[in-house]
Amino acid sequence: MRKKVSIIGAGNVGASLAQLVAQSGLADVAIQDIMEGVPQGKALDLSQACPLWGASSAVVGSNDFAPTANSDVIVITAGFPRKPGMLREQLLAANAEVVSGVTKKAAELSPNAIIIVVTNPMDAMTYLSYKASGFNPSRVIGMGGVLDSARFRTFVAWEFSVAPKDVEALVLGGHGVAMVPMPRFTTVKGVPLTELLSKEKIDALIHRTREGGAEIVALLKTGSAFYAPAAATFEMVKAILLDEKRILPCSAYLNGEYGVKDVYNGVPAILGNGGVEKIIELKLNDKEMDEFQKSAQSVRAVIDELKI
Ligand code: NAI
Ligand code: 2OP
Repeated sequence: MRKKVSIIGAGNVGASLAQLVAQSGLADVAIQDIMEGVPQGKALDLSQACPLWGASSAVVGSNDFAPTANSDVIVITAGFPRKPGMLREQLLAANAEVVSGVTKKAAELSPNAIIIVVTNPMDAMTYLSYKASGFNPSRVIGMGGVLDSARFRTFVAWEFSVAPKDVEALVLGGHGVAMVPMPRFTTVKGVPLTELLSKEKIDALIHRTREGGAEIVALLKTGSAFYAPAAATFEMVKAILLDEKRILPCSAYLNGEYGVKDVYNGVPAILGNGGVEKIIELKLNDKEMDEFQKSAQSVRAVIDELKI
């Protein structure tokens, strides 16, 4: 049977992701947005690209949720992006209303879907989406770690002038300034970064990774990054659709793992068609564990503001 990916929010991230899914031919795509004509126009444009890509995905756009029914994966990108100087957390009130509303409507029509939340502040929005959907938390996942790790990989690859695909990187914790890049688990063709670079150089790469989103916001001035965020989300969508059992850093519901309870935070997880099938508990040293737990506390503080 054909698979279906629904993308809620047809803006920069949503439309870029719709292109990646349609072009891959892995699933049909339903795009939903409140802007009249926008999801319809983008869906028509993507449909007309399919013959050129040799893809047979059906792409529909709508202002209502009916075409999203019976999705395998629902991706929530609806909401507002950052403006220069804004923290992701400053999007909380406006985006909470959007995420809660769209989750309820989409989840009702696709009770067996896996939900991936992209909207910021992402970890708190993922918690909200989990509550609003009523789904088991293993089926509600946040996207942040794959993007942050890709940024870290890029900066490390530039440092050594090597292909980015030969660099593996791991960024844990929340998708915010308290994210936790892990140099011990970051390797250049298998060699840990800690054996290759001085602490000062590693700290500079970590700083640029933490500020990776803000660096792009400052350049674009009218929005935030979308090509890499869409590619990172597609990696997760693909892992779920193809039941790949990929180990990807994503925002998962923690129930005691890493000493944290009832919060979403970025951890390595096995992703397959059941969503988060297993959380991998790495052996962290004291400093790493301390940073991870502080990151979880900062997400918890944002969740507390939601009063849910
Ligand atoms: P955008 O402004 O281009 O698109 C957002 C879309 O959501 C717009 O088309 C808007 O009409 C739509 N929308 C607003 N309210 C809606 C509602 N109630 N129902 C349906 N659609 C609605 O923004 P962009 O760049 O696509 O970013 C989307 C979100 O993703 C932002 O919150 C941004 O901060 C976040 N983001 C998160 C990343 C992550 O790593 N987790 C990475 C990149 C972006
Ligand atoms: C990013 O990291 C805005 O969260 C988004 O680019």
